[in-house]
Amino acid sequence: MKDILAEIKQRASALNKTVVLPEGEDKRVVEAAANTVKEGVAKIVLLGNLDEIKSANPEVCLDGVTVIDPVTYAKTGEYAEMLFTLRQGKINKKTGAPEYATVEDAKNYILKDYTMYGALMLKAGDVDGMVSGACHSTANTLRPGLQVIKTAPGEKMVSAYFLMIAPPCGNKYCEDGCYIYADSGLVQNPTSEELAYIALSSAKSAEQVANITPRIAFISHSTKGSAKHADVTKVTDAVKLFHEIAPQYNADGELQFDAAIVPDVAKSKAPGSTVAGHANVMIFPDLDAGNSNYKNTERLGGFMAIGPICQGLAKPINDLSRGCHTEDIVAAVAITVLQTL
Ligand SMILES: CC(C)(COP(=O)(O)OP(=O)(O)OC[C@H]1O[C@@H](n2cnc3c(N)ncnc32)[C@H](O)[C@@H]1OP(=O)(O)O)[C@@H](O)C(=O)NCCC(=O)NCCS
Repeated sequence: MKDILAEIKQRASALNKTVVLPEGEDKRVVEAAANTVKEGVAKIVLLGNLDEIKSANPEVCLDGVTVIDPVTYAKTGEYAEMLFTLRQGKINKKTGAPEYATVEDAKNYILKDYTMYGALMLKAGDVDGMVSGACHSTANTLRPGLQVIKTAPGEKMVSAYFLMIAPPCGNKYCEDGCYIYADSGLVQNPTSEELAYIALSSAKSAEQVANITPRIAFISHSTKGSAKHADVTKVTDAVKLFHEIAPQYNADGELQFDAAIVPDVAKSKAPGSTVAGHANVMIFPDLDAGNSNYKNTERLGGFMAIGPICQGLAKPINDLSRGCHTEDIVAAVAITVLQTL
């Protein structure tokens, strides 16, 4: 069975990109910074105070890691001005006041929120990607990207997927050694149109990151009309639209999860489908389904879950689960590098 993660890291190494890790206060992040550089996966900028990082992690060798302290860094003023300009006219939803009334306000903010600081470094072109979220919520990690990096030209929206890697012993249904599950991390309750665009981004991610040919299943509690409900219609409308906007991809739905991955079930429930029984990209009808399914597959199926990985952003930013391990962070960095292509 091929080692998908090793392959991803190898492809990332060849690109020689720089990724910022803003959470220098987290031990796992500091270890991941060192390991990423040691393995040659990417160059790393770690945010935080060098003396504090060293005294909290005396056993970690930071040779080759660039540590930047936002408090003293020469470009902090420039980043504050950039944030002020980019967000001018935007109102803080909680207070009803402008997000940043002055450049000084913006500066004070980025000195408290290093994820925003890292997003501004990315916007400025000083790094090629960012990975954060080891000690911050998904919402707080993704919001800076949505606010300052924005959707890529030609993309409709940003969404998030998990790369689910089969356990080393393999999985009898998982033909390619991995699945893409979307949206499992960002878009709460997508419309049919949004589902179609999430599927399109996921198909591109399957090719770009997982290096697999996508076979896309739109998941539902119904297979080919077995149930009638507005929730099912939402999915079938998405499938129709997807075929119009992306006829080059092999996609089918609505399919129940078993019909999507089990060839025998597919034969009886969705005869003639070229996706059913062999799907490798799962498009879930909403975030409850997408998020619960990835956790299910991870915990009960023994898959490794990497993500949420953002797709559709103009430059790559990726989130981490707060329960992540050091090696998950290195994997997220490698994926972030591939998204620069
Ligand atoms: C990511 C998330 C925080 C954004 O919502 P929010 O904080 O309320 O942000 P807003 O709706 O104010 O949007 C902020 C900006 O992002 C943009 N945005 C939000 N969702 C977007 C999307 N899917 N694609 C592109 N842009 C988006 C908005 O247009 C807005 O831009 P603006 O401020 O320049 O006008 C929200 O979608 C969320 O909480 N998702 C679920 C995350 C989660 O809990 N996942 C489960 C754990 S993995």
